Amino acid sequence: MSRKPKILVVGSINVDLTVSTEVFPKEGETVSGNGFKKSAGGKGANQAVQLARLGADVTMVGAVGNDADGREMRELLCREGVDTSFITVKNDMPTGCAVIVLHGAKNRIIVYAGANGALELADVEFLKNEIAGYDMVVLQLEIPMEINEAVAKYACEKGVPVFLNIAPYAPVSDEFLSCVTYLSPNETEAESLTGVKITRNRAAASLDEAKQVAKLVIARGSDNVVITLGSAGAYFFGESGEFYSSAVDGIKAVDPTAAGDSFIGGFIFAVTSGVDTAAALRFANYTAALTVSRMGAIPSLPTLDEVNTMLEKSK
Ligand code: RIB
Repeated sequence: MSRKPKILVVGSINVDLTVSTEVFPKEGETVSGNGFKKSAGGKGANQAVQLARLGADVTMVGAVGNDADGREMRELLCREGVDTSFITVKNDMPTGCAVIVLHGAKNRIIVYAGANGALELADVEFLKNEIAGYDMVVLQLEIPMEINEAVAKYACEKGVPVFLNIAPYAPVSDEFLSCVTYLSPNETEAESLTGVKITRNRAAASLDEAKQVAKLVIARGSDNVVITLGSAGAYFFGESGEFYSSAVDGIKAVDPTAAGDSFIGGFIFAVTSGVDTAAALRFANYTAALTVSRMGAIPSLPTLDEVNTMLEKSK
């Protein structure tokens, strides 16, 4: 990987409140937790920091509240080397937050958009001219849909590739999808998007069903599809062909939070650095494997050295 990619992330910035528990509460039930951690997160911020830790030149566009969480998140992103000049402060809204219940190595997340939901077209209109300078634009669905649609259109008009992580799932228009170069759902999002369930049994997933999903998505406009399959790895179908990469063996998963974000950061970094699709999928799987072996979202994201060391050991 010789070139330093220049990436624009337009997306969410959250504070994650994670409580670990032995048991998920049932309706009307209160259970005791056995651990609590407040940490930095948000799909946009996670992907931006992952890309920066791998060595990309990253600019983030997003919004925080005029509060301590917002100031801390901006400082953290800045320390990570992310350009935060275009992060807007929304006076009337709190910084976005996520309540994460962690049970064993499984989580359930509720996101409150806060300032993320208050991003306006006026906050991103400057990108119309600026966007041409980026190698890729990265979007998720934790900010208003009209912002994502506008940014994808600006990118499309200037021929800049768009990566859309369709999470949390929301219906997207064909017009939006026609501006998308890479669309990345997990299995649940893939089913919501296409109605096709990808059968999975731990480390094995039906690649025929994954291909059905990909073909349906491509028929709606996206050029390529990257499906994350948890412990079954990841599947790609698109312009460069069809590829599958199994998940990394022997990882002790402690917290899956941000595993998808970390995978996406790894994949985008590899592809925009000129790596072929098969190697990019593998690199992304190793990046995500390190993330699931640690607690939290941003605190768990690995550096390029850590990913390369792990890849070296696997040879
Ligand atoms: O993808 C994980 C992220 O989803 C968390 O960091 C949380 O903030 C939510 O956005």
